[in-house]
Amino acid sequence: MKRVCVKAPINIALVKYWGKHDEVNVLPFNPSISLSLDLYETKTILQAKEAPGLEFTLNEQSDPKSEGKVRQFLSFFPFDETQQGLVIRSYNTGPTAAGLASSASAFAALAVACNQFFGEPYDFDTLASITKKGSGSAIRSLLGGCVEWDTQGRIHALDWPFDDVVLGVVVLVAGRKDIGSTEGMKHTIQTAPSYLTWVEKAHQDALAFKAALADQDFTKIGHISEANALAMHAVCEDANPPIQYLNKQSRALIQGIQSARKQGLFEAYCTMDAGPNIKLLHRAKDSIRLNEWLKTQGFPLAQISRIAEKGAHRCED
Ligand code: PMV
Repeated sequence: MKRVCVKAPINIALVKYWGKHDEVNVLPFNPSISLSLDLYETKTILQAKEAPGLEFTLNEQSDPKSEGKVRQFLSFFPFDETQQGLVIRSYNTGPTAAGLASSASAFAALAVACNQFFGEPYDFDTLASITKKGSGSAIRSLLGGCVEWDTQGRIHALDWPFDDVVLGVVVLVAGRKDIGSTEGMKHTIQTAPSYLTWVEKAHQDALAFKAALADQDFTKIGHISEANALAMHAVCEDANPPIQYLNKQSRALIQGIQSARKQGLFEAYCTMDAGPNIKLLHRAKDSIRLNEWLKTQGFPLAQISRIAEKGAHRCED
């Protein structure tokens, strides 16, 4: 029986995507820039079966919500559930739907696996434009390293000049988030008076980020990333009613990191997605000091992640 296995890394944006100007084609209002990370990944196995129908499991368990999304995604491929049998087993090594990019790695892995399984009906660019229909940010997990997703919906690999930069992931809450990103984005666009100010800022941030990459200026990259994440959360909080992804502990950690940085204890910068967890961009030489500090302050330790060089790729299972 035919079998395909694909792995894809998570990615964390340093310039965030927050809002689509075209819902059908999933085209973002602003460019975003991310790092693919090797801390968590999704492994997805597709296997043919005799009896027609789809069987889906996530981490060996049935998951009706994810199964619905997978079934919808399969409509882009030549698969007829009434005629063909398919088993999809997906494994997330990180927490699911907690603002830790599990849907990005999941849909990047699923897209590449489907393309391989169904005899490569799509070239890379077409597959990329389909991948983002599963989850916008998944398009960036197709590539490794530093990736830009532009407003026309294309992705580009950017030269990442630092081989010692890592991301520390501090998991404050591992459960599913209350307001998913799709819903959160829509609500922000519809009700936040400052939404267009966010879009403009994110454009400027993307340009400044690329200039800082060319200058190999880590400090600038750190400041742009932290300010951009705070701006994304500010526009969410400007919505009516406000969306609060950060909790009290997240805010205390952000403040603590900023003041430790000012005191010169270490150079780390915060970034946060649609959940309360915090990711800390820093150089590997600071990881031990950073974790010692987190411990003395009563926060969970950061799990240190290196940058994944490979995007979604076929693997042995
Ligand atoms: O791709 P989605 O719909 O899960 O949205 C991702 C949104 C953020 O994680 C908050 C930002 C980003 O660019 O990844």
